[in-house]
Amino acid sequence: MLEKADILGLKENARESLLWRTPSTSLLERSTIYGRDQDKEAIMELLFDDTTDAKISAIPIVGMGGFGKTTLAQLVYNDESLEQIFDLKLWIYVSENFDIQKITKTMIEAVTSSSCDMKDLGFLQLELKEKLIGKKYLVVLDDVWNENYGVWNDFQKPLQHRAKGK
Ligand SMILES: Nc1ncnc2c1ncn2[C@@H]1O[C@H](COP(=O)(O)OP(=O)(O)OP(=O)(O)O)[C@@H](O)[C@H]1O
Ligand SMILES: [Mg+2]
Repeated sequence: MLEKADILGLKENARESLLWRTPSTSLLERSTIYGRDQDKEAIMELLFDDTTDAKISAIPIVGMGGFGKTTLAQLVYNDESLEQIFDLKLWIYVSENFDIQKITKTMIEAVTSSSCDMKDLGFLQLELKEKLIGKKYLVVLDDVWNENYGVWNDFQKPLQHRAKGK
């Protein structure tokens, strides 16, 4: 079976496509997006819902490759009405390896618009927590493959201190 896959080049292509993917950004690839109005509105409603007491709320967008997950997130992210509720927005491209250090560092750099040289995860998390404290923020984590609860738990530690109503 493996040999057949090798002959067809399936394994190699699949791995290559992940490793060499261009990171997504918050910018939409094309100007005309079809049939996503309802999905977008459903997410907007969740974002504008300020009745929750949760310290952190996550909205997962899940689906097969090419389904339009990134595009939907971009549609929401670029909606001007979000300015009414969020002090800042961050778009973070994660990909296969959920590297908490790297993601935390990228988030700090996105908030401060300058490079961050810290390496220690503890310092990075403290710094991020400090930068976000009292702020209403939206973070899009695109292309997340991680299914490990512990890793997700560790990652969100600095994000537990949002201001009320976000
Ligand atoms: N509703 C839409 N209307 C028009 N084009 C779309 C729509 N949704 C997605 N596309 C286009 O389809 C392609 C794949 O979409 P997208 O990258 O959002 O998928 P994805 O689910 O994030 O894929 P992956 O799992 O590989 O990251 C892109 O070129 C995007 O511009
Ligand atoms: Mg995507």
